[in-house]
Amino acid sequence: MSGSLLVDNIGELVTNGAGEGPLGIRRNAAVLVEEGRVVWVGPSAYAPAADHHVDAGGAAVLPGFVDSHAHLVFAGDRAAEFAARMAGEPYTGGGIRTTVGATRAATDEELRATVRRLRGEALRQGTTTMEIKSGYGLTVADEARSLRIAAETSTETTFLGAHVVPAEYADRPDDYVGLVCGPMLAAAAPYAKWIDVFCEQGAFDVDHARAILACGQAAGLGVRLHANQLGPGPGVQLGVELDAASVDHCTHLSDADVAALADTARGDGPGTRTVATLLPGAEFSTRSPYPDARRLLDAGVTVALATDCNPGSSYTSSMPFCVALAVREMRMTPAEAIWAATAGGARALRRDDIGVLTPGARADLVVLDAPSYLHLAYRPGVPLIRQVIRNGVPQ
Ligand code: NIG
Ligand code: FE
Repeated sequence: MSGSLLVDNIGELVTNGAGEGPLGIRRNAAVLVEEGRVVWVGPSAYAPAADHHVDAGGAAVLPGFVDSHAHLVFAGDRAAEFAARMAGEPYTGGGIRTTVGATRAATDEELRATVRRLRGEALRQGTTTMEIKSGYGLTVADEARSLRIAAETSTETTFLGAHVVPAEYADRPDDYVGLVCGPMLAAAAPYAKWIDVFCEQGAFDVDHARAILACGQAAGLGVRLHANQLGPGPGVQLGVELDAASVDHCTHLSDADVAALADTARGDGPGTRTVATLLPGAEFSTRSPYPDARRLLDAGVTVALATDCNPGSSYTSSMPFCVALAVREMRMTPAEAIWAATAGGARALRRDDIGVLTPGARADLVVLDAPSYLHLAYRPGVPLIRQVIRNGVPQ
């Protein structure tokens, strides 16, 4: 779309910048967009003229959701595993190998179609930025093609060759770590911005995780980590030590883990700032206790919310669903949850051009079918996303 775009008659605008309360709310507002960027925010009554026009009709407008954790490159599903869990089976992560088998057997076109389908689903639910991980290929060729396909859809791509040790390396995990750090990283790095490790009992221990993440850093990738999902462990503190942008899951934390994350938020940690990304879709779908979001927020930790969209532990692409879960089940206030799903996700990706609606930001906007952001938690399961504007273009 060429020319400027004015979104006016906004009853409640969440800017995450200057304005009322922690969400920087402005009432009766308008946003002017040029060349994919926000160039002006102000009272609707004083809005400048533009080439194109969207009338929000008094509804709420938010920054597009930033989903900073998703596994979209896979084949098959695990609906039967979900049904077994709902009948009492525990979640162990063991099903990852089932998806690895299906993914290796799939064609590029099949994988591409799944990524596009899930990315489209998310977009219709207001997600304008979505991180995409590899991690169901676990061979040099399959990890490289997973990331090549992911990079067609997102610039936020993550190499997760260290998701689990694949069956053919089960009795020689050191050799698999060598493969991940050597030829697999070399083949994946051209398509990846980040490196991630599933640091958990049954996946990768702290020494393997440190070695893999250090190789990724040396290859120019940023660090993120699956940590403390299924039990307590050293993952979160490893993330802080390595200046991870985000440690994800954070379901089982010690006081020292929380303090280490809070130190980074205050600027006292070893790195810049490590965000705690909470993935309540995983606890919902594995019927597990939710992370203690209040403990993190009260300690001053920066919290993000993401879907963890994957065929095993959390097969949802819906950020509004995660917001509703965060409010109802994790006792986040609606404002905290909306911030975490927008600006929080941006921090987890170390981006300052998304998750906010202030001049200079990317013009990623969501127009709700509701007068307030509160309705996203208050009306769970209802399709409240009326219009999505991404990079200044109505979708
Ligand atoms: O984030 N925890 C590791 N990886 C995914 C689950 C993957 C799967 O079960 O297929 C997660 O929950
Ligand atoms: Fe995950």
